Amino acid sequence: MKIVMLGAPGAGKGTQAKKIADKWQIPHISTGDIFRANIKQGTELGKKAKAFIDKGMLVPDELTIELIIDRLHQADCTNGYVLDGYPRTIPQAESLTEVLDKLDEAIDYAVNVDVPDENIVNRMSGRRACLNCGATYHIKYAPPVNEGICDRCQSELVLRDDDKPETVLKRLEVYHEQTQPLIDYYEKLGVLRSVDGTKDLEDVFSAIVDILGA
Ligand code: AP5
Ligand code: MG
Repeated sequence: MKIVMLGAPGAGKGTQAKKIADKWQIPHISTGDIFRANIKQGTELGKKAKAFIDKGMLVPDELTIELIIDRLHQADCTNGYVLDGYPRTIPQAESLTEVLDKLDEAIDYAVNVDVPDENIVNRMSGRRACLNCGATYHIKYAPPVNEGICDRCQSELVLRDDDKPETVLKRLEVYHEQTQPLIDYYEKLGVLRSVDGTKDLEDVFSAIVDILGA
């Protein structure tokens, strides 16, 4: 199964993508996580990406498209994947469709996690992220067992640099301009499904399971 997660920053794409990946045993591929891992390791890509991410802007398509196409050709992707944070622009979506077309494949579902802007800033300030394995927590809604420590890999949890309120507002603006048009794009392909992302995170997951088929 090939799934694309859509939704504003902080809508819960990463949270739900992880649960989908666990249940369906497919890789969770997050461009944000890939960029953050590169930033942590100090790679050339990481240095270039950081300049954009810290300002709440998108990393340019030419750095992003090739990265993801390489990833999708890896062996663990043969049974599908859940893409989180990709595509994020129309050119990225078109390139993905083109790559899949050549293989006679297609995205099965684009799951749009719908959360209004007013809920987002609040959520982000409580988020804690593991930069080692990509797990995401919330100090109130999804706390780790031990405060400040990742349940999965025991690394230290951090507040992401781009989760400052002013950067979140910029990310929301960029989302509406460049990413929201993908809702129409996948609607036209007939694979768009929307869930109410303001619900409790287990309820959001149940709605997704209903869509994908248990
Ligand atoms: P990325 O890491 O993808 O960030 P994002 O899209 O802004 O999304 P987030 O990860 O912030 O939110 P999320 O929807 O995953 O929410 P989460 O599950 O964590 O990208 C970061 C940056 O990298 C971008 O700004 C861009 O610069 C660059 N980038 C990445 N991909 C790119 C691309 N393709 N092209 C160009 N640039 C790219 O949930 C948020 C919080 O809420 C958590 O604390 C969670 O525990 C909590 N929560 C989740 N669900 C619920 C719920 N139902 N109720 C209560 N709390 C909840
Ligand atoms: Mg995320």
